[in-house]
Amino acid sequence: MPLVNTKEMFKKAYEGGYAIGAFNVNNMEIVQGIMQACKDLKSPVILQVSGGARKYAHHAYLYHLVQAALEEADVPVALHLDHGNSFELCKDCIDGGFTSVMIDGSHLPYEENVALTKKVVDYAHERGVTVEGELGQLAGIEDEVNVSAENASYTDPDQVQDFVTRTGVDSLAIAIGTSHGAFKFKPGQKPQLRFDILQEVMDRLPGFPIVLHGASSVMPEYVAQINEFGGQMADAIGIPEDMLRQAASMAVCKINVDSDLRLALTAGIRKHLAENPSHFDPRQYLADGRANIAEVVAHKIQNVLGSEGKA
Ligand code: G3H
Ligand code: 13P
Ligand code: ZN
Repeated sequence: MPLVNTKEMFKKAYEGGYAIGAFNVNNMEIVQGIMQACKDLKSPVILQVSGGARKYAHHAYLYHLVQAALEEADVPVALHLDHGNSFELCKDCIDGGFTSVMIDGSHLPYEENVALTKKVVDYAHERGVTVEGELGQLAGIEDEVNVSAENASYTDPDQVQDFVTRTGVDSLAIAIGTSHGAFKFKPGQKPQLRFDILQEVMDRLPGFPIVLHGASSVMPEYVAQINEFGGQMADAIGIPEDMLRQAASMAVCKINVDSDLRLALTAGIRKHLAENPSHFDPRQYLADGRANIAEVVAHKIQNVLGSEGKA
């Protein structure tokens, strides 16, 4: 099955009260682990590539890894640019075969975010590519953006309808209290999400797909495994799964997960090498990391997204 854009996926997800997992890919083992779980559980999926991933692995490698995955899997797959920060980057990805892009103008003044997003939408829609925009700023660290908790801002529901109408975006990432990375809350802090904002957005734009970034639950078993085998992730805390599930049953149609994959891969490799100190064949320890990726993605599909059997 060729790559698809996100239009049909999101329509079905919204109507069905579930969400599509959007998993960040950086190398072959990550692509394979994700696709294994999606194939086994017949789940649609979004494979997303950040600007940093593209610099690390290069566009052609990631694009062709995903093409290889399509030869083996008969589930709907969208290839998406995560956190595109310029028109040129979005254009490169669209011209290079991606079926969906995010233009993240959330750090710009409102009118500039509208203008940049609209420019990307106009280019993308002519080519059948869907576009995700962002309003409001999440805290946390990505490769090229580092937003402190003080500078993070919740999405203003009053702006959402205007933004969506004027830009023509197909989906919108909003800030309701999630954040990027593995340290989302301080130890002792009670995790909270602003479901009231999500509900207001839903009321104003019925049927419109919302995206949740920074949505790793920072699965305790992998954090524990990393710590057991020499790592230092004691204070890692994520979004509770019941909150993610609630969001998925509302307007959230796309749930972004990267940190959980990083933790799972690292935990598998650390454990393997600690238990087999003489091993130096990368296939041996990477296979354990890849198996953990498949396990995490299957867990998400069944316990958070609700997308099992929806392919
Ligand atoms: O939200 C960002 C993703 O986790 C990608 O992270 O920019 O370090 O590849 P990255
Ligand atoms: P996490 O850091 O919570 O996995 O979020 C990833 C993300 O939002 C990618 O865009
Ligand atoms: Zn993100």
